[in-house]
Amino acid sequence: MRQLLVIVLAAGEGTRMRSARPKVLHAVAGRPMVAHVLDAALEAGAAHVAVVIGPDHDAVAAEVRRVAPQAEVFVQAERRGTAHAVLAARAALERGFDDVVVMYGDTPLVQPETIAALRAPLTEGAAVAVLGFRPPDPTGYGRLVTEGGELVAIREEKEASAEERAIGLCNAGLMALDGRAALDLLGRVDDANAKQEFYLTDVVAIARALGGRAGVCEVAAEDVAGVNSRAQLAEAEAIFQRRLRARVLEAGVTLVAPETVFLSADTSFGRDVIVEPNVCFGPGVRVEDGATIRAFSHVEGAHVGPGAIVGPFARLRPGAELGQGVHVGNFVEIKASDLAPGAKVNHLSYVGDSSVGANTNIGAGTITCNYDGFRKHRTVIGANAFVGTNSLLVAPVSVGDGAYIGTGSVITDDVPADALAIGRARQVNKPGLAARLRARLSAGLAPKK
Ligand code: UD1
Ligand code: MG
Repeated sequence: MRQLLVIVLAAGEGTRMRSARPKVLHAVAGRPMVAHVLDAALEAGAAHVAVVIGPDHDAVAAEVRRVAPQAEVFVQAERRGTAHAVLAARAALERGFDDVVVMYGDTPLVQPETIAALRAPLTEGAAVAVLGFRPPDPTGYGRLVTEGGELVAIREEKEASAEERAIGLCNAGLMALDGRAALDLLGRVDDANAKQEFYLTDVVAIARALGGRAGVCEVAAEDVAGVNSRAQLAEAEAIFQRRLRARVLEAGVTLVAPETVFLSADTSFGRDVIVEPNVCFGPGVRVEDGATIRAFSHVEGAHVGPGAIVGPFARLRPGAELGQGVHVGNFVEIKASDLAPGAKVNHLSYVGDSSVGANTNIGAGTITCNYDGFRKHRTVIGANAFVGTNSLLVAPVSVGDGAYIGTGSVITDDVPADALAIGRARQVNKPGLAARLRARLSAGLAPKK
C-alpha cells in the first residue's frame, strides 16, 4: 500500500464572496466546504492530512480539528502562491510519503474516486499528475500544454500566448506528486511571472526538465468545480443536491418531487421512507424505516422513528426524538424533546424541553412554556395522558401517567397520575342578560340596515 499525504490549501482570502467568514467555511449541503474536502481525503485513504490556512483563520483550524482531529494545521503567513502554500506544510512533506496529493479547500465536489484516478499515473512512474477538465469557459484557468499526447507544461492565463489560451483542456487544480521528488521539485519553483507568485503548476515543466514524466487524468467539470463567488457556491450546492437525491433514491427512499427536497450531506434514511415535496433537511437528521415526511416540513438535528408521520408544515428542531409511530402534524414545532412511541401532537403546538410518554395525546394549540426569560425548564408528561386543546404547561411541571387536562387550562402545578386537572375560570351563564345588554347599548341609535 502506497502511503498518501494529502495537503489541503485553504489560505484563500475569498474576497469575491464578500463575506466576513473565511471562504472555505461557507457551507454546501449543510457542511463547510473544507469539511467535504477533508472527507474525500480521508475516504481516499490518506495516511496523513495537512491543512494550510491563512493567518487569523482560527475558525478554519477549529473546523479542521472537529472534522479530522488527526489532521495537522499549518499557517501560511503570507500569500505568495500555491507552491509557497504547499511548502508551508514542509514538516509533513519531510516525513516522507509515497504519494502527495494537493487539494483546494474551495473545491467541495471532489470525490474519493477522483483522488484515486489522479494517483494512478504515479504508480506507473510519473513524477507528477494533474487533473484536466474542459470548462464551458476556460478563462482564468491554467491551460494544459501537451506535445504528442504528453503533458509538458501548465500555462497560467496571465502568461499564456493567444495560441495557448485557445486550449480547452484546463488544470482543475488538484495535483499528485511523487513523494520522494516533491520537496526537490517545489524547491525549484520561482516567482518570475506576471503575478510574482510561486506557482505550483510550474512543477510540471520542472519535472520534465529533470527527465520525469507528467500524467493527466481527465475528469468531468462537475467533480472539480471551484467556488470563488456566491453564484459558484449556489452552483456547487445544486450539483451536490443532485448527487444526494440520486443516492437516497437508490437507497430506497421515495422522493415525490426530488428537485424540491433539500438534503444535508449526513441525512440518513431507512427503507420505504416517503418524503413529500418541498421538505428541507438540515444537518444531523436520521429518519427510520417507513416514516413519512409530509410536504413543507423543516427538519434539523432530529431523529424520526419507524413509521412516524411528520407534517405537513412541521418543524423539528435539534434534539427532537420521535419514537415509533409518533404523529407530528401541521404547524407543530418540536425542540429538544422525546416523544415516546404512539404519542400524537397533531395541530398548532410547541413542545420544547419536554418528554411525552407513550400514546399520550397533545391537543391542538398546546404550548409548553419552557422559558422564563432567563432559563429553560422541562415539562414531563407521562404515558396515556390527554392534554386538552389550547392548554399551557408552565415549566417546570410534570403530568402523571393517565392524567387528563381540561381544555384551555394553564397548568402551573404538577398533575398526579390519573388525575383530572382543570386550570381555567369557571363559566357563568346569566339568562336573558344578552338581550338586555343589546337594548341598553343600542338605545338612541338608528336601526341597523
Ligand atoms: C489555480 C491554478 C490554475 C488552475 C486553477 C483551478 C496555480 C498557479 N494555478 O489558479 O492552474 O486552473 O487553480 O481552480 O496553482 N492558495 C493558498 N495560498 C496562496 C495562494 C493560493 O492557500 O498563496 C490556495 C487558495 O486558497 C485556493 C488555491 O490555493 O484554495 C488556489 O489558489 P487560487 O488563487 O484560487 O488559484 P487560481 O488562480 O484559481
Ligand atoms: Mg481559484
